[in-house]
Amino acid sequence: MTALNDPKSIFQTEHRALNRWIEKMITMCQPDSVHWCNGSEEEADTLFSQMVEQGMCIRLNEKLRPNSYLFRSDPRDVARVESRTFICSQNRDGAGPTNNWEEPRKMRRKMKRLFKDSMRGRTMYIIPFSMGPVGGPISKIGVEVTDSPYVVVNMRIMARIGDAVLEALGKDGFFVPCLHSVGCPLEPDQVDVSWPCDPENTHIVHFPEERTIVSYGSGYGGNALLGKKCLALRIASTLARDEGWMAEHMLILGVEEPDGRKTYVTAAFPSACGKTNFAMLIPPKAMEGYKVTCVGDDIAWIKPGEDGYLYAINPEAGFFGVAPGTSAQTNPNAIASCSKDTIFTNVALTDEGDVWWEGITEEVPEHLIDWQGNDWTPQSDSPAAHPNSRFTSPAENCPAIDPDWEKPEGVRVHAIIFGGRRMSDVPLVSQAFNWGHGVYLGATTGSETTAAAEGAMGQLRRDPMAMLPFCGYHMGDYFRHWFKMQRDLRETPRVFNVNWFRKDEKGNWMWPGFGENMRPLKWIIERATGRAVGIETPIGWMPRYADLDWRGLDMDEATYSSLMSIDRDRLRMQTLQHEELFLKLFQHLPKEMIFERELLISRL
Ligand code: OXD
Ligand code: MN
Repeated sequence: MTALNDPKSIFQTEHRALNRWIEKMITMCQPDSVHWCNGSEEEADTLFSQMVEQGMCIRLNEKLRPNSYLFRSDPRDVARVESRTFICSQNRDGAGPTNNWEEPRKMRRKMKRLFKDSMRGRTMYIIPFSMGPVGGPISKIGVEVTDSPYVVVNMRIMARIGDAVLEALGKDGFFVPCLHSVGCPLEPDQVDVSWPCDPENTHIVHFPEERTIVSYGSGYGGNALLGKKCLALRIASTLARDEGWMAEHMLILGVEEPDGRKTYVTAAFPSACGKTNFAMLIPPKAMEGYKVTCVGDDIAWIKPGEDGYLYAINPEAGFFGVAPGTSAQTNPNAIASCSKDTIFTNVALTDEGDVWWEGITEEVPEHLIDWQGNDWTPQSDSPAAHPNSRFTSPAENCPAIDPDWEKPEGVRVHAIIFGGRRMSDVPLVSQAFNWGHGVYLGATTGSETTAAAEGAMGQLRRDPMAMLPFCGYHMGDYFRHWFKMQRDLRETPRVFNVNWFRKDEKGNWMWPGFGENMRPLKWIIERATGRAVGIETPIGWMPRYADLDWRGLDMDEATYSSLMSIDRDRLRMQTLQHEELFLKLFQHLPKEMIFERELLISRL
């Protein structure tokens, strides 16, 4: 730790703007000490030891879960809070009707009041981080100032942090200042709590014109690890609009075929639709020779290359995965990823010092300590792990990680997939007629809500490109940007729509999902590279029964037909309901959207 009376060692860089900003933050927040994170293993070990000693976390059984820790959050601080997330553009119109907005000067004043003396009694950690490989042509640098050591150790997994980043930043490189505080200053003799936070005053604030982020009051996930949703999506989406690229809420995966051919696709699904499972899918045994590799499970930065094709990187370096439901059956690659070097948050603890969550094993242990630190037995009436409990694991732990996942210029994208959780109406897979139709499909994506999202269960939530909570500017302008992207490309990726969640009249899932998703995926990559056939329908191209590979799966043609069926009357009604979104965005809605809708209605 650096003593505050030694300014020379506080201002470690030759970057004057960074030094000036740090100086201002110290004056405002009044921490007891300042620590520049170098990103080393020793640094992480020291922080973990301190946190174990202070009762902030538990070191898990070294034999069962090497180099891994368990944190339990305050029960009031367990998820992203969209109601407290703001886009403070100069004009309300800049943020658009789908974001919370506040006049930026007013918000700055509010934040100044909250941050004044907010780090008293605590250490200020300065985390230089790179989203994307350090120095890469698509990568961006941020600097997070935080009073949470939990944030430091998580950021070390989720991003590239430390000295190498400062070096890449140089004397005058661009960086996004990211200020974070848990909002719990300590009096001289005050004993700290294990998860400090200030839920009443939580604010996650973005200033898109200034490219800055300020987050107060929460220590959890996307509220606090500011490289992820805040920088890599909300701020990056505005950077991307201005610079001619795309920052998307998408996984990236590669499909290797028996002949060695490799095709990469990206896919956007709203939260709680199994993105991590799809990103790490293991093909069915019968489809021998097919292999799926993972580049990323949550965010894709996609940029036109010199050759006129689109290339994608995963700006992150780790997975911040939802634990419940993850098992050796549903996602063996995720289980391997979190088998070591992992930070667990809000899962249950076994008597052997390992972790447990609902769904990880069929057999439920006789006794556990639940996510709130209480004794738990199978008779308990609340879940042992919080439904939004997480693992933070290094991407390099994943057995299916793609050999090119850190390629600075990215991998070429051949297909873009949209999808949601839809019990009816939306078929298993279809292909848009062209880019414009694909943008329309993505823009009108809806998903039925689950418990993890705010809002009532089972309601259809329109979530354009799965970006509703993550787009840093007006959604209508975002659609325009998508349409515009085509103009400078030599060839656009093909666009597809999938739905793994269709149910029959009795309420049973019609599609097995998980590894079996390889079947529609195979058709997708073959279509995207001009090798598969389909039939034209009003909503796009679709594979016939004979166009999919059914080796090893008992799927009769009748079931397949109902899985793929479209009901013109219902779809026409639903298309009319798109009006609601259109009206909301009305002044900024690109006219292509209206045309695409008219075309769709006339086809139906
Ligand atoms: C996430 C989300 O946590 O999309 O990744 O909500
Ligand atoms: Mn996500």
